[in-house]
Amino acid sequence: MKSGLTLGIETSCDETAAAVIKDGTKILSNVVLSQIDIHQKYGGVVPEIASRHHIEAIFPVIQEALSAAEVALDDLEVIAVAYGPGLVGSLLVGVAAAKALAFATKTPLVGVNHIEGHLYANFLDGREVTPPLVCLTVSGGHTDLLLIPRLGEYEILGRTRDDAAGEAFDKVARVLGLSYPGGPQIEQLAQGGNPEAISFPRSLLEKDNWDFSFSGLKTAALNYLNEAKQKGKEVPLADFAASFQWAIIDVLTQKLLAAAEQHQVDKVVLSGGVAANKTFRGHVQVKAEQMGLELLYPPVHLCTDNAAMVGSAGYFRYLAGYRSDYSLNAVSNLRLGDE
Ligand code: KG4
Ligand code: ZN
Repeated sequence: MKSGLTLGIETSCDETAAAVIKDGTKILSNVVLSQIDIHQKYGGVVPEIASRHHIEAIFPVIQEALSAAEVALDDLEVIAVAYGPGLVGSLLVGVAAAKALAFATKTPLVGVNHIEGHLYANFLDGREVTPPLVCLTVSGGHTDLLLIPRLGEYEILGRTRDDAAGEAFDKVARVLGLSYPGGPQIEQLAQGGNPEAISFPRSLLEKDNWDFSFSGLKTAALNYLNEAKQKGKEVPLADFAASFQWAIIDVLTQKLLAAAEQHQVDKVVLSGGVAANKTFRGHVQVKAEQMGLELLYPPVHLCTDNAAMVGSAGYFRYLAGYRSDYSLNAVSNLRLGDE
């Protein structure tokens, strides 16, 4: 059916999500059922618990997305599902649901890389995103710097060698006794703090090195907190949070803009949960403008995991001729370009 309607399904971590997208760019419905409350008491996502909750939630969430969009299963042109990277037990639930629906309705099935999905969150306000561009995907599981010469083509310039940027936020927040996910909590705590109060290390800033490393920063932040505790000193929380956040933002921004310059690309794109950080967005905006670069980032609610982005990426993959068959499986360490 040539309806331009895509059902997107996303279960790669702790969000059970389904969305209906028209023509790859218009959101008709976007349902995200977060398990944050469930995992909060453990300080992070517990994979087995996540998959169990996905199983319970997946069909009600899909049903809600379809009815909110006033779309019937038979109206769909494409069913798109994130099949990696992510937690294998979580991914499997979305993949199995997508395959079952595609089989039952004879609708084309398209497997989507979750990271590619994050990039396509930028397409969802109808804006045209035309390569070449350099994209930085920063989330709880990934810090990937990508050169995108053409839509669907990815060159991974660099990635984190240890912790992802969001993971560093989450781990330090946990030690501060803040709830999961830590990024938004640290951002809030940092308000009014002095980002230069504490000098935290920046790694791998040498020229032409596009990889990231945040474990040294994380250790320095944790050592700072331990030392203060041992000496009975009060931690200046706003300054601590602002300085820690700034160390991450500074490195991310420098690398993104240097990569754009090196590859002579005049458009840079942010995606992933950490791109929801307003200080980060604001800083990149100022620096990009100074260099005459155009900056794109998704609205805050589309930075974190959702199925609208999967629907968009899936629809454009479908237009490019990609189809998945019923042997589609979850691939926890799926890399861009592996498909
Ligand atoms: O993209 P996402 O929802 O899930 C993954 O694919 O990992 O990203 C979640 C990550 C978490 O680590 C969270 O702490 C971080 O994004 N995050 C933020 C902010 N909002 C979410 N980090 C910094 N500032 C924020 N405002
Ligand atoms: Zn994600």
